[in-house]
Amino acid sequence: MGKTSGASPISIAASWLRQAKFEEGPWHNVFSLATINSSGGASCRAVLVYLLEDDQFTFCTETTSRKNAQISHNPQVALSVYWPNMSRQVRLEGVARMGDQSLSDRHFSTLPHGARIMAHASLSGVPGDPDDVARKAQKLERELCGREVGRPDYWRAFTFEPTFVEFLENCKGWNQRCHRFIYNEESGGWQDWFINP
Ligand SMILES: Cc1cc2nc3c(=O)[nH]c(=O)nc-3n(C[C@H](O)[C@H](O)[C@H](O)COP(=O)(O)O)c2cc1C
Repeated sequence: MGKTSGASPISIAASWLRQAKFEEGPWHNVFSLATINSSGGASCRAVLVYLLEDDQFTFCTETTSRKNAQISHNPQVALSVYWPNMSRQVRLEGVARMGDQSLSDRHFSTLPHGARIMAHASLSGVPGDPDDVARKAQKLERELCGREVGRPDYWRAFTFEPTFVEFLENCKGWNQRCHRFIYNEESGGWQDWFINP
């Protein structure tokens, strides 16, 4: 069984994500997020994943959402992404935690104006009507009169701490050059090895 370079998998995943920004275009940070529901069933959806300066992975959602209820019940989650131009896949498993208010403020301030308005007009996971949402968004725009859109309390950033990371490189043709290497956190350190794809 071959050993990998021994570098931190979090810094490798972070550097692949940074590179993806240039290689894959604006949707480079769309990851699948899997959670577990209260009956032990699986649930999966797309989320946008961001990187903080210290290579911390984050994503944002609303506390009214199904995924938030599932994470509150069981913080064990998995993220995965495939980057076709780079021919790479990353899978991460670990723990998600709701970040503090200042982390949420920081992320909310980076959203385009329209997305901030929608965060107020449309509550994730709550039954609603698209016409109602559009009316609410227009009303809010009128009331704001060009002022800044503040973050609603239910819009939150989550941090993600991986304990298992898998990288798959050159995964276009499933030929001999395809590399798969995995990292498992054990007793505070990372165990790493190559594994057959
Ligand atoms: C490209 C794309 C990006 C998305 N990004 C997010 C996101 O960052 N946060 C989020 O809560 N939902 C995001 N969504 C919507 C989710 O995939 C999902 O439909 C919604 O959050 C409800 O999921 P839930 O019922 O499991 O909570 C995104 C959807 C797409 C297609």
